[in-house]
Amino acid sequence: MKIKSSDFVMSNSSVAKCPSEPIPEYAFIGRSNVGKSSLINMLTQRKGLAKISGRPGKTQLINHFKINDNWFLVDLPGYGYARVSKKDKKTFQKYITDYFRLREQLLSAFVLIDIRHEPQNVDMEFMEWMGENQIPFSIIFTKADKLKPKAIEKQVQDYIAKLLDGVWEEAPNYFITSSSKNIGRDEVLNYIDEINTGFFQEKKN
Ligand code: GTP
Ligand code: MG
Repeated sequence: MKIKSSDFVMSNSSVAKCPSEPIPEYAFIGRSNVGKSSLINMLTQRKGLAKISGRPGKTQLINHFKINDNWFLVDLPGYGYARVSKKDKKTFQKYITDYFRLREQLLSAFVLIDIRHEPQNVDMEFMEWMGENQIPFSIIFTKADKLKPKAIEKQVQDYIAKLLDGVWEEAPNYFITSSSKNIGRDEVLNYIDEINTGFFQEKKN
């Protein structure tokens, strides 16, 4: 899929205030600093579109970006950020979970995992919660530029094995990406394109 346009639409802290257009939507979620905002910039090839930072906790709101004038990419705050207060963490969590539970336009989420890290409870628990709430998602492994091909393969195999060892009967769909090296761009965009095509086809019928 070709990205012809990408426009920032709005930032807000409540799902009720999100854009009302019934067009396909895809959201990026994961631990702070995993590379959600960077991935949006890589997919759209627009460096400053989503705000990024080396310090965790940069994205604090629900951010909508309209792509090709007919679907949305959504950048969300990260979870598992230790330095926000307990109260802030609760507020964050509430609007993230509300977003996922209530956002009807959301066709699929992407849970981002830093490919260098061993499986973490906070990610496992989040994916379990997504499963319980029947919210479709794929995994996106990020920062693949940091490892050699053999190590990438091992990390992914170990991760999937851990998921299958837990509550998952089937491994979720996954992608391997690097925002700094443009790895995985076509794969993620083609996947979104397939879902979009199905959505618009169904709407026509
Ligand atoms: P929060 O908004 O705080 O939740 O973080 P985020 O998940 O949006 O992460 P962000 O995109 O801001 O990136 C965090 C840091 O990781 C930045 O320093 C990025 O430059 C770096 N980073 C992101 N993607 C990659 C990647 O593919 N490779 C490398 N080497 N660094 C990356
Ligand atoms: Mg961010």
